[in-house]
Amino acid sequence: QKRLTTASIRSMKGGGRIVCLTAYTTPIARLLDPHCDLLLVGDSLGMVLYGMETTVGVTLDMMIAHGRAVMRGTSHACVIVDLPFGSYQESKEQAYRNAVRILQETGCDGVKLEGGEEMAETIAFLTSRGVPVFAHVGLMPQLVNTAGGFRSLGHSEQEAAKIRRDAAAVADAGAFAVVIEGTVEPLAREITASLAIPTVGIGASVACDGQVLVSDDMLGLFSDFKPRFVKRFADLSPLVSQAVEAYAEDVRAGRFPGAEHTFQPRK
Ligand code: KIV
Ligand code: NA
Repeated sequence: QKRLTTASIRSMKGGGRIVCLTAYTTPIARLLDPHCDLLLVGDSLGMVLYGMETTVGVTLDMMIAHGRAVMRGTSHACVIVDLPFGSYQESKEQAYRNAVRILQETGCDGVKLEGGEEMAETIAFLTSRGVPVFAHVGLMPQLVNTAGGFRSLGHSEQEAAKIRRDAAAVADAGAFAVVIEGTVEPLAREITASLAIPTVGIGASVACDGQVLVSDDMLGLFSDFKPRFVKRFADLSPLVSQAVEAYAEDVRAGRFPGAEHTFQPRK
């Protein structure tokens, strides 16, 4: 059985909803793979795994290392790796060079990059030269230092018009799908209806053709803060705390390791 391709994801437009989650490591990727159409090695790993404040410090080498780990744990889902901040914005040639490194060194199916109209030329350059692109419009975390903060978008007509133009531009440029992040429902609905490619929403309502969440958020593993758009499908943090507390007690009391965990000389 073969892995889903970016072409098969694209063809899900108007069909079933696309199920996408982030994955950064082999064991988690193994658990997610049978249930997901699309797995995203997101640069959110900088915050989720490395404790960074934003995604701006994530490097290409980090993305490649985690992309390889996710590929080792998957056989069904289409795997897309984020191009990190600074690895594609300078020129379409820089974007191509680094996207090819990701494809060649991880074996993944395509790359994701943030940006609308200003990235259209780059997306066309990549897709016409064999690099499938998952676009990303609306809230763009890599712009945190210029856009200022994480807030939902599309409230003013000016903001909505920009996101509408961005979505149309990346679709025209050849992206196989587009993430819409942190965007009010009517706008996400309108964009989804107007594009020939699937929209995958995060904080962009049920109107999108698919959904993505950060796995650690929906598992209750990442932080105590739960943004409105996250639904906790599990609450794993307390389970981990309880297990570690029990381990500490057992070690301190001399209850662990027990006889069943202990090697004895052969008779
Ligand atoms: O980095 C990431 O995890 C993402 C998704 C949440 C869309 O870009
Ligand atoms: Na990202």
